[in-house]
Amino acid sequence: MDKLAGIDDAVHRYYSQKAVSGDLIEAILYSVNAGGKRLRPLVLLDLLEDMGLELTAAHFDVAAAVEMIHTGSLIHDDLPAMDNDDYRRGRLTNHKKFGEATAILAGDSLFLDPFGLLAESDLPVTIKVELLRELSYAAGSYGMVGGQMLDMKGEEQQLAISELQLIHANKTGKLLAFPFVAAGIIAELGSANVADLRTAGELIGLAFQVRDDILDVTATFEEIGKTPQKDLDAEKSTYPSLFGLDKSHQILDDSLDQALAIFRKLKNNRGFNSEKTEEMIEGLRLHG
Ligand code: IPE
Ligand code: IPE
Ligand code: MG
Ligand code: MG
Ligand code: MG
Repeated sequence: MDKLAGIDDAVHRYYSQKAVSGDLIEAILYSVNAGGKRLRPLVLLDLLEDMGLELTAAHFDVAAAVEMIHTGSLIHDDLPAMDNDDYRRGRLTNHKKFGEATAILAGDSLFLDPFGLLAESDLPVTIKVELLRELSYAAGSYGMVGGQMLDMKGEEQQLAISELQLIHANKTGKLLAFPFVAAGIIAELGSANVADLRTAGELIGLAFQVRDDILDVTATFEEIGKTPQKDLDAEKSTYPSLFGLDKSHQILDDSLDQALAIFRKLKNNRGFNSEKTEEMIEGLRLHG
């Protein structure tokens, strides 16, 4: 099956259970079905294939779990109390469509449901426990939510580079590193290789927020499906605001190069393919 369709199927299978509130499920699926690049789940599935695994329904469940948390983070990020955005993934934001209270609850569900989905997936229990721990750390107080708190506190302030890096590493980097770490755990590559995968994932995660900050300045609504130039309005410290666009592009490329070097090392040491993963990393470059 097509990977994108498989990811969507896994989410829909979870939400096809008898609903407690149909209105809640409608709001959840509105944001999931709005699309998005599906980068995090695709990274997981591409990596598993590069590592020589045959994809199973359980792998799609893990992919769906990280996409659900990511989608919940976008719903909350867009709320009036946070970035106050009207558009996401090319359509009205969840709170614009369903109201703030429903959007908060839809986000809550998308943070909690993945843990049930993962726990039920058809994987060995020891692997599942590791994945549950990794997902919690990537998403919660020690990852995305912690980073969002720092991001909020950093508004209207001129941050030092190290502070900005810490925000990016947590609000975006750790959840993006999750599929890299998860692939290593599922493929049972051992702790040294998982540590390399985590480093590569964190580099790509940092690069991805730099990329998002560049696109906020340079892209159109049609290209990103959300209102551009928002960071300037909110007086956010970003890589473009601190370094300018040219240097930001260079930082993006350098981080991706470093991640690629780790993959080439893993390929040589482990003998697995890295073709799909390298192509994905190359696709994150922004030329010009
Ligand atoms: C946007 O993420 C928010 C960040 C963490 C930078 P994506 O650019 O992956 O958003 P979608 O999933 O494609 O909508
Ligand atoms: C969002 O960062 C990171 C999240 C944890 C959602 P941004 O606030 O820059 O993401 P966009 O630009 O709204 O997608
Ligand atoms: Mg934000
Ligand atoms: Mg935002
Ligand atoms: Mg942004």
